[in-house]
Amino acid sequence: MAGKALGRYFYFTPLVLIAFLLAQLPELEAASPLYRNSVASESPRAVLEASKILRRGGSAADAAIVAALVAGGTSPTSSGIGGGGFLLGFDSKKQDTFVLDFRETAPAGLDASVFEERPLGVERSGHLVGVPGELRGLQALHQRAGRLPFSELVEPARRAAADGFATSRHLHNMLVWAEKKVKTVPGLASIYFSGGRPAAVGARLKNPGLARSLKKVRDDGVDAFYQGPIAAAFVAQARAHGSPMELSDLKNYQVKTRQPLCTNFAQHRVCTMPPPSAGGLMLMELLQLFQPEELRSLGHDSSAYQHLIAEGMRGAIADRLRYLGDPDFQTVDTKGLLDPQRMSLRRSMISATRTHGLPSFGLEEHGTHHLATSDSDGNIVSLTTTVNRLFGAKLNVEEYGIIQNDELDDFTPQKVMTAFGMSRSPNRPRPGARPISSMTPTIIFREGQARYALGGSGGMTIATNVSQVVLNLLAFSMNPQEAVSADRIYIPTQQETVRIEKGADEQLAKELRARGEVVGRQKFSTTAVQVVSAQAAGAPSAADPRKFGGAWSDE
Ligand code: DON
Repeated sequence: MAGKALGRYFYFTPLVLIAFLLAQLPELEAASPLYRNSVASESPRAVLEASKILRRGGSAADAAIVAALVAGGTSPTSSGIGGGGFLLGFDSKKQDTFVLDFRETAPAGLDASVFEERPLGVERSGHLVGVPGELRGLQALHQRAGRLPFSELVEPARRAAADGFATSRHLHNMLVWAEKKVKTVPGLASIYFSGGRPAAVGARLKNPGLARSLKKVRDDGVDAFYQGPIAAAFVAQARAHGSPMELSDLKNYQVKTRQPLCTNFAQHRVCTMPPPSAGGLMLMELLQLFQPEELRSLGHDSSAYQHLIAEGMRGAIADRLRYLGDPDFQTVDTKGLLDPQRMSLRRSMISATRTHGLPSFGLEEHGTHHLATSDSDGNIVSLTTTVNRLFGAKLNVEEYGIIQNDELDDFTPQKVMTAFGMSRSPNRPRPGARPISSMTPTIIFREGQARYALGGSGGMTIATNVSQVVLNLLAFSMNPQEAVSADRIYIPTQQETVRIEKGADEQLAKELRARGEVVGRQKFSTTAVQVVSAQAAGAPSAADPRKFGGAWSDE
């Protein structure tokens, strides 16, 4: 009897099981993925093209390459193949967080004395042009995490340059702002000021020179930029304006891999860019100086909170000026700088009612582009790229549509250092060195899985902005859109001790003054933070409204 029953049980079980599984099938198919394809960028066209690549099965790296190249053509005030940048990537299969440094580099023949004579004027502006790392960096990213052929990733940018792209609101605003300086640059007026006026929002622009360069890169690979006629034209243009750059400088350019700086904060792990970025150090210092509960209890909009982080940021800026230089040229002891004892001593010196001022060292800039991507396998890329100031050195390699960077302007003038009690800067101009940067590409993990990728643009505002957005996400539990939109403060390099946004409440300014701050106001229109939210169940990715960027996810 028992045997019979058992037999029936075994006989029916597989059928029941199959029927049960079949009934579940539609649900299994529709089961939610863990990660989403997503992109956030300052350039709407870059978002569009990167989203197409992700939909075609491209990886986060593929999408980042497309977005960087498209942004370089359609937001040329900020970045391009004549510039360079930094990126953090996460390979979910290998559980590996990697850093690529494709920062511009000083040519071997650099003349350091010229840097003490800044501003240089147009005839000597070539001295500020660094050997560009952009394409070598994108190539290295592709070798590491690319899925589709590199040539296919170049094509969207080539097409935009050849067939035309719409003038974005940000580009239009920058053309209006920089009209006088940019209009006279050979080859730029015919593209961006046709009819004598800055291109209107939506006006269709073409860049045949850039299309020519990108066609060569698409067909012959990245070497086509670093050797041959494009390299020769790039070097000739820089040399015509005083640069000692040689063809060998381009040929010898190398991308550097580095170890990220990481720390734990509010049940998350935050990883960011090490030197030659100073941005990552600021973020790490803030996350070690303060506990999330302490900040939360003060309240985001309170003057107490704003003053506390302003003090933390000023400390990090002083550390930048005193201790940071190209790590390949001197020891940079980030471990010592972030030592818990040092941080707790510094914390004990921060008071709610006293302000530590910084000597004036005057560095203000207006370009750069941050973009981030994620794919459905949980890979993520956080990439910041720049030509430094608006249209870089304002030198255009006309035949190839390449704007030359003025990144070497980020080397610190030695005269600034006396105010910091030093005779020479660790960030001094040296042949082959990379200048210290504010760029802060960052990835945030929860329980070993990438959750957010973020970073920002806007010169010295980059690190202060990214640090505040990380705190918004983690200490104040804002979603990405809230986090990038909330009012921010900035630590200026001269005049005031802190700047608040133009429209911020006067009560905040009053209370900050009572804490010893000298308060200014600033329109934050050239600074923007983008956040990709990689987990499918998370809140959507977001672009900063301040620069009219965009974000896309495949939900
Ligand atoms: O690397 C840096 O920190 C700067 N060269 C970035 C330049 C920049 O963001 C320009 N603009 N605001």
